[in-house]
Amino acid sequence: MSTPHINAAADAFAPTVLLPGDPLRAQHIAERFFSNPERVNTVRGMYGYTGSYRGQRISVMGSGMGIPSCSIYATELIRHYGVQRIVRVGTCGAVHDDLKLGDLVLALSASTDSNVNRMRFAGMDFGAGASYPLLRAVADRAQSAGVPLHIGNVFSTDLFYSPNTGTTDTLAAMGVLAVEMEAAGLYGLAAELGAQALTVLTVSDHLRHAAHMDAAQRQTGVDAMTELTLDALCG
Ligand code: HPA
Repeated sequence: MSTPHINAAADAFAPTVLLPGDPLRAQHIAERFFSNPERVNTVRGMYGYTGSYRGQRISVMGSGMGIPSCSIYATELIRHYGVQRIVRVGTCGAVHDDLKLGDLVLALSASTDSNVNRMRFAGMDFGAGASYPLLRAVADRAQSAGVPLHIGNVFSTDLFYSPNTGTTDTLAAMGVLAVEMEAAGLYGLAAELGAQALTVLTVSDHLRHAAHMDAAQRQTGVDAMTELTLDALCG
């Protein structure tokens, strides 16, 4: 079996899939954290793997950047591969002053400048929210591990390079924690298709303080977030 973007066997994916943006991050997660990882997708270099973590079958696959790319892979995983839970693990740019580099953010909800949820919700504003059981599992795990978390609203933008310089102030004034590029689309899609979704983020940039993690800090931060997420999902 294959879909336009995934050349895996029908039973190749576990019901829970971690979805980082970068396919090389998917490879790294599989090789570092999974037992017996097997590569199940190669189309467009968007690597996907299935293995096990703490004895539970689990998958990871790249999503690419932005709502359109992420939506293609998430749709095919849910519709054609029986995937029920998708947990995006990614990075974000903080806009809230309480956040600093390396902090973890759980996207309870996601605002957006994308039109995708209006397209699927008859032109109305959809309240794009995380799956509560998934959010609760990661929040509980973080609490028992003593890892501080920010839980709140993020902003999923279509424009990484935006000409609208005032937007970050507007977001901060409305209590938005951070900017990323997929959560609102993933949450709307999960609602449409009857799946569960969550977005877990590491703060890699601070947009109001012009602070940025270097590559080594990014790797360490994203690894810690991934391990916490896996422990929560497979604990
Ligand atoms: N904008 C959007 N997505 C991001 C950013 C950003 O500044 N940093 C990490 N992901």
